[in-house]
Amino acid sequence: MTIIKNAEVLDPVYIPSELPFREREIQRLEELVVKPLRDGISTTLFIYGSPGVGKTTTSKFTLLNHTEFRSFYFNALSHPTTRSILADVMLKLRNSGVARPSTTEIFRQISNWQKQKGMNILLIIDEASNLLRNDLAGLQMLLRSSEAYNLTLSTVLISVDDPGTFLRGSRKISPLPISTLRFSRYSFSELYGIIMRRARDALYDGTYSPEILRMIAKVSSQYGSARLAIELLQKSSYIADYVSSGIIGSDDVRAANALINPYITESKLVQLSEEELIVLLATCRCLYRFTKTDIPCIVMNTEILMESRLRRSPTMSMIYRIVRKLEDLGMIESVIEGHGSRKGVSKSIMINDTPVRVLEKKVEEVLDRMS
Ligand SMILES: Nc1ncnc2c1ncn2[C@@H]1O[C@H](COP(=O)(O)OP(=O)(O)O)[C@@H](O)[C@H]1O
Ligand SMILES: [Mg+2]
Repeated sequence: MTIIKNAEVLDPVYIPSELPFREREIQRLEELVVKPLRDGISTTLFIYGSPGVGKTTTSKFTLLNHTEFRSFYFNALSHPTTRSILADVMLKLRNSGVARPSTTEIFRQISNWQKQKGMNILLIIDEASNLLRNDLAGLQMLLRSSEAYNLTLSTVLISVDDPGTFLRGSRKISPLPISTLRFSRYSFSELYGIIMRRARDALYDGTYSPEILRMIAKVSSQYGSARLAIELLQKSSYIADYVSSGIIGSDDVRAANALINPYITESKLVQLSEEELIVLLATCRCLYRFTKTDIPCIVMNTEILMESRLRRSPTMSMIYRIVRKLEDLGMIESVIEGHGSRKGVSKSIMINDTPVRVLEKKVEEVLDRMS
């Protein structure tokens, strides 16, 4: 290993020691769940937001391992019904099972445990979308248990869907008010902050540049996902380690992205004209060693390529138009960047999801077939 110092830190299940950019959510969890339960008040909280925005990690980080109440974490993907979750809770609390207990029996057992120990209970049910869709009755029963069985039991439900989509139309699912907490997507700079910390803890000094971290943050900011950002960092580190280059390069990130996001470029390439293919090829050449390039580099390389094919180079405005088309097709990406107030703006062009050397080869094959 020449790049990775601590592989565990890049693992998807690793729980970091700090969760930057989730201070507000942590505080809300404290206010809406931890404090009330400490005071013997049962609550229900709904957490939702896109994949990879830290819902699971933040909940575990804030809600598990409290000594003043007993907390359980369940992933509903492996528990098809609320009842199976409750049966599991009962087993864990009582260490003894009643064969095929009725729901009432389950609640009675949990309630007995609570009376003996005087401890409040918290259930975190993650990936709860299907449970909400298919077992609303079971969930209702759980959320009413504090009233019906005199339990002090709080529930946190986590899903990617807005709870409104389940609760609309259905009768009120709980006698208690339900709070909601939405986790928003991470911005570019937040993603940069998150992977910068991961890189620092996982990789050797000097094996990654701020530029590479910016590239990863840029790609993952399309989805606002920290999971994608960390996975890109992990895969590009392994790829760079494998080829023993000693440092993560921009093509390693593109290769990592291609692994994660495989998508067919070939079908798009065959729809392009010769001139368009040449401009794309020129763009690849400009990006061998850089994460982004600009129009002047593309113009220069287009001229060179056209000359070698004994063809006239397209005009500047045609090249602009082709670049825009390639962008619309999703083959390249661009950002407009400022250079300070008096220096104007320019267009930076990137290819982030395919290694440019792979793309270049494909473009050349398609061009060969044309001539
Ligand atoms: N604020 C953060 N700081 C550091 N790592 C984070 C942060 N938010 C998310 N992560 C990491 O991103 C990945 C995805 O987070 P996760 O909680 O599984 O997202 P979700 O449950 O919303 O899909 C995990 O590896 C997690 O450690
Ligand atoms: Mg999750």
